[in-house]
Amino acid sequence: MNAGDKPEIEVLYASGEIAKRIEELAEDIAASMGPDILVIAILKGSFVFAADLIRALHHAGINPQIDFMALSSYGDKTVSSGNVVITRDIVDPVAGRQILLIDDILESGRTLSFATGELIARGAGMVKTCLMLDKKGKRVTDFEADFVGFDCPDRFVVGYGLDYAHYFRELPYIGYIVRRGTEA
Ligand code: IMP
Ligand code: MG
Repeated sequence: MNAGDKPEIEVLYASGEIAKRIEELAEDIAASMGPDILVIAILKGSFVFAADLIRALHHAGINPQIDFMALSSYGDKTVSSGNVVITRDIVDPVAGRQILLIDDILESGRTLSFATGELIARGAGMVKTCLMLDKKGKRVTDFEADFVGFDCPDRFVVGYGLDYAHYFRELPYIGYIVRRGTEA
């Protein structure tokens, strides 16, 4: 991006607010799951959130193992039967494990309902889900998350791992794009 034409982002959740909410989420997770959990972060969007959350889980007395899964949605986005596929699978065995699935944002619910079903089919003992943001108005499944950071209005948000065309993941806050700049 050119220095003279920087994008303008309106902050929705500032980094301090996010950090405080993550400490609360970790306490809630510790109270309802045992100390021996397998965290599965869904790539790419959740990597920033997951990195902060696992350190908060450490403060809350949890010793998680960490693995990663990349998922993609295919098909016409206007059709409600959008298909989710695994593009990078986990390595750790899940049979009998207490699993915490982490993602950036819950919208239709297809991604997490697919991932949860897949892990249960592989014999997971328990699957709980944790999202930074919940766009409740956009749900097309009956999926509901166990732990949610913040409600998200029905607007496209970026930052803190969330992207627009692969840009903006590095922003330490979550915000709306007011003006995109020349190259993003
Ligand atoms: P769904 O719940 O299956 O619809 O999946 C939500 C996925 O869509 C998230 O993991 C994001 O990758 C993406 N997504 C949805 N809303 C936004 C947004 O406002 N900004 C960036 N990515 C989004
Ligand atoms: Mg995603």
